[in-house]
Formats: sequence, structure tokens, C-alpha cells
Amino acid sequence: MGKWFAVLLATASFAACSGDNGGEGGEGGAAAGTGAGTPTSSGVGAGTPTSSGVGAGTPTGSTGATPTGTTGAGTPTGSTGASPTGGGNCTGGVDIATASGNPFEGAELFVDPGYVAKVQSSIDKTTDAALVEQMKKVQKISTAFWLDRIAAVDGLAAHLDAALALQNQICKPVTSVIVVYDLPNRDCFAEASNGELRVENGGVERYRNEFIAPIKAILAAHPNQRIVAVIEPDSLPNLATNLGKKDCTPETEKAYREEVAHAISELNMPHVYQYIDAAHSGWLGWPDNQTKGAEIFSDVIKAAGNPAGVRGFATNVANYTQLSYSTESYDQQSNPCYGEFDYVDAMAAALADVGLGDKHFIIDTSRNGRGNIRADWGYWCNNIGAGMGERPKANPGGATRLDAFYWVKPPGDSDGTADKNAERYDLFCGYENADQRAPEAGHWFHEYFVECVKNANPPL
Ligand code: BGC
Repeated sequence: MGKWFAVLLATASFAACSGDNGGEGGEGGAAAGTGAGTPTSSGVGAGTPTSSGVGAGTPTGSTGATPTGTTGAGTPTGSTGASPTGGGNCTGGVDIATASGNPFEGAELFVDPGYVAKVQSSIDKTTDAALVEQMKKVQKISTAFWLDRIAAVDGLAAHLDAALALQNQICKPVTSVIVVYDLPNRDCFAEASNGELRVENGGVERYRNEFIAPIKAILAAHPNQRIVAVIEPDSLPNLATNLGKKDCTPETEKAYREEVAHAISELNMPHVYQYIDAAHSGWLGWPDNQTKGAEIFSDVIKAAGNPAGVRGFATNVANYTQLSYSTESYDQQSNPCYGEFDYVDAMAAALADVGLGDKHFIIDTSRNGRGNIRADWGYWCNNIGAGMGERPKANPGGATRLDAFYWVKPPGDSDGTADKNAERYDLFCGYENADQRAPEAGHWFHEYFVECVKNANPPL
């Protein structure tokens, strides 16, 4: 992903964020605002929610989410999912309904066996016993399964089978999170995550027929489990701020609008909870950008027929912005939304203005544990000093209709290569705060993973 950041536009015409982010170290927080942000929650412990919440997604108990323990990939044996091995006593089915509509609530969050294996590769290289223990804790944390190319869809059925097998084994709803990320002309304002599909080469047809259609079929074949789908990171936000620049052409705009609408309408199923990517505070945090973004979201959702399965929006995906803070090392350029809590409150208000006042949010907290790690808010590539943030958790509070903290970006996966000769080299991956050892986007970056573990906040 090439997260970009929008240049400051006009002065705020209204106070979309309170700007009063008061307090420090998790005190105070976004809910103090009185502006248009309609902060509803009490804002207790905004920065550091204690894990007292009911139905927190990540049980600390020994069962964890990895049924087979720490070795191996955690995949329950047998991939059909029809008959869980050993101890399965809910083969008749588990009631996956959620009274509140929040798919994270009361659920075990599925741990991606592929991520467990990647972390294992780092454990195998690590001699420091304390660090190994911390890494083993990471192996129990749920991260998203990225459908970032057509070929990745091949692994989806087995992934969901494994989640279902676990659900049958523990007799409790298991929620899996996927990311749908293969739009034609993807990553139009950056290079690092340019995709495989191009509009001019039949990319729209391929997106529909070879990507969305098989995903739809697989999701439809797994109706008895909760599936969260994060929809096309960066795409609609790029239309709000970067049109006319780089590859964000009229053709790209048409494809993004129409294909996001197509995706959300095709994936509209009762057990699939969709969250459309809505950038982060350092991108659409300025009121003008928010307004534009909300209008685009509304247009696209309407064009899709207002699917009930669009639960809301995902913010901070693959970014580093903290939940709340009052000062940063970079110039905040009069952006009134300092952190993600403020931003969610403000975005909720902007969405209400366009008739989307019922939407919910999730915040990616995979790598936002530490601030003051970049010279510019716009730096998005493998920032040195980053640490894992809050663990995935349902109903953490702190901002309007916040369904969950979640690790959408698997920490340890690179944001983009630092190899200046690579085809997908992006200048941002060469800037002073970017780790210069980085492999291609999505590839495992052991050294960076180690840093994220060591810098985790809260600590592992
Ligand atoms: C990459 C994807 C990858 C994802 C998760 C993105 O930046 O472009 O290929 O799957 O990150 O690591």
C-alpha cells in the first residue's frame, strides 16, 4: 500500500475535530471534544484501554486462537472444516448471530496460520529467549488475510475451513478478517503496491470475473461463520485528495468508484461484515477532505444499492497514526484531528451529514504503538521505531461506534521495497524514517518485525 497523505487544504470551515486532545498517556482523549464530532462514548482511558471490556476478542486463556499450539501453522488438521478433529462438540453448528451487529463481539478472532508461520520463521532466527517469548505471544494474535492478488484467492477456502473447524471445536463464534485489495490501477498515488490489474488491459473484467466472483462463491459457501471484509485500502481516499495526480486519472476514478460499488454489492451477505477503507487522521483529517471523502463514500454506497452488509469503515489501515496524542515531532499543519479517536468521531459526523449516520468503525492498531517516529505525517513506509499497538479487541471505547481495534496490517510484512532499482520502488521507502533493509510490499521483513515486537506498546 502506498498510503498517502493529503496536503493541507483550506482552513477548517467548521470544527470537525475538537482539537482538544488533552491529557497524556491515555488519559483524556477524543471524547472531550464538543465540536461536530459527536463523541458519544465516555472516552475513558482513551489511549490505553484496559482489557476489562466484555467480549474482548482475544481471550488470554490458554486455548488461544491456535488450536494446535505454537508449532506449525495452527491449522486444525483436515481442511474441509466439516468434521473438526478431536474434542469437537459443536459440529451441529454454533449460533453466529450477534445481537449488536458487531462481528467482533463475543467472538474468538481467527489467527491466520500463514502469519503464525511467518512469525515462526523469525522465532527460528532468534536466540534471545525473552524476545522469543514475546514473539510467541504475537503468534496468538489475529491478523487479516490479504487477498492482494487473484492467486491469493486460492487460499481463502482453506483459511475459512480452518476457522470453522476451530469454531466447531470451541463452540463459540470465530470471526475471520479478510482484506479485498486488487482494484485495477491499484495504489494510484504510490508505487510500492501497484497491482496486477490495469484498466487498459481488461482489468475491470478480470477484477469482476477472476477476483470478486470467486471470493463471493467462497464466502457464500461458508455461511455459518462471521467474516469481516476490509474493502480496498486507499482507493476511495485517493479519489478525495489525489485526483489528477500520478496514476489517479479519470479512468482510475471510474474504476475505483464502479468496482468498489461492485465489490460491496456482490459481497453483501448476512454473515459478511464489510468495512470500507477510510484513510486515517493524517489524510482525511482536514475537514474539507473529510467532507469530500464522505461524499464519495456515500455516492459509492448508493451506487451499490445501499447494501446492508456495509457495517462501516476501517481507519488507519497499514498506517502508524496513534489513537490519541497532543504533540508530534512533525508539523500537524492545523489538522484538527490529531489521532484516530478524534478522526473517527469527526468522520462519523461527516458521514451523518450524508445520511450514513449508522456506520461503525474499526481502527488498525497493528503498528501504532509509538509516536514521534517520523519527520512528516505523510511517511507511510516501514517507519523506523514503530511498535505494535493495542491488541485486537471488541468494543474498546474511546470513539464513536468503534467496533474494534484490529491488526489489519500484519506487523512484519513490509510496506514496500527500499531497493531503488526495483520496479515498485517508491520514494517514500527511501526517506529518512524508512527502514532501508526492506523487501517488497507484503514480503516478510524479519528485522522490522523484531523492532515492532521490541517497541510494542502496550508491551507484549
Ligand atoms: C501489500 C500487500 C500485502 C499487504 C499486507 C500491502 O502493503 O501491497 O501485498 O498483502 O500490505 O502486508
